[in-house]
Amino acid sequence: MSALLDIKDLHVHFPVKKGILQRPKSYVKALNGVSLQVEKGETLGIVGESGCGKSTLARSIVGLQQPTSGDILLNGKNYSGAGAKELYQMRRNVQMIFQDPYTSLNPRMKAGESIAAPLKAYKKTERMQTRVKELLELVGLNPDQHFDKYPHEFSGGQRQRIGIARALALEPELIICDEPVSALDVSVQAQVVNLLQDLQKLLGLTYIFIAHDLSVISHMADQIAVMYLGKVMEKLDHHAFQNQVSHPYTQSLLSAVPFPDPVMERTRERIVLSGELPSPANPPSGCVFHTRCPRSTDRCRQETPALIKNETTGNEIACFHPVENEEYQAVDRERVLTF
Ligand SMILES: Nc1ncnc2c1ncn2[C@@H]1O[C@H](COP(=O)(O)OP(=O)(O)O)[C@@H](O)[C@H]1O
Ligand SMILES: [Mg+2]
Repeated sequence: MSALLDIKDLHVHFPVKKGILQRPKSYVKALNGVSLQVEKGETLGIVGESGCGKSTLARSIVGLQQPTSGDILLNGKNYSGAGAKELYQMRRNVQMIFQDPYTSLNPRMKAGESIAAPLKAYKKTERMQTRVKELLELVGLNPDQHFDKYPHEFSGGQRQRIGIARALALEPELIICDEPVSALDVSVQAQVVNLLQDLQKLLGLTYIFIAHDLSVISHMADQIAVMYLGKVMEKLDHHAFQNQVSHPYTQSLLSAVPFPDPVMERTRERIVLSGELPSPANPPSGCVFHTRCPRSTDRCRQETPALIKNETTGNEIACFHPVENEEYQAVDRERVLTF
């Protein structure tokens, strides 16, 4: 079965312009050779620190950012370099939910109008009022009470529900959620995540779910891609993630997830990375993670590891010195034992 979305060796480089002539002197390599597949009906989680290229990837997939090179195939059809008409058709099928529903909704538009906007853009105006009310109901808002309200009259969680309704209006197959709950209170986060999961089951949606930490991703995603400085460091299955991670960077991210139990939380081991996050305008040589990796060697400074599938675990990993399963479990056991 071919993947719903197939991203091949995607690069997005932004020129850094300097001087009076504004000639590009260097490039910010926001995406530096990203390859990923997403199967229909699945959720691909993408995780990584701020600035690693997550939003650039999201914007490239929905057609808001022109890639420097590489291919993006949706249902086997390549639309990098596609014409305006093809892009228009594609965009209907791939929608995005943004981090901050307050800035992504027009403050002067009523909720009903915001949700109707994509329907108008695609001339799907027949039964529009009824359809918008259906959508409001689908995301748990009261169609009669909320149709005529402005964004500022809603809570953060309700505004995100409007953003979700708008994304659903054109019945897309793929929805990119770019940190959809990061700006919400913790208590509201779970409600929005549950809504997204219910909608996925009901409508057979495929998600790309972006976050800067693992707590929500590990709950939501079937597959998880870990990004660092414009590259995928590891791609692993949700189950593998529960009991084995092999990239030292994934391990450090995992160790930063707080335990819900306060006793466990106090006694757990945390892997603290040394040094600052390098700039994507001047990424380190070899493995981009080597400057902060506790396992790095001379080889990592000189050679770039490719993302390769480990046949035993099924994970894809770009690392010369992956963490062995036993080592990982030892850390995990220790955590449990100290508890
Ligand atoms: N339009 C742009 N022009 C120049 N640089 C950009 C632009 N968009 C993003 N960048 C840079 O690309 C890198 C990745 O950004 P982004 O994709 O927003 O990361 P993330 O979403 O993971 O925080 C950052 O260094 C950012 O400053
Ligand atoms: Mg972002």
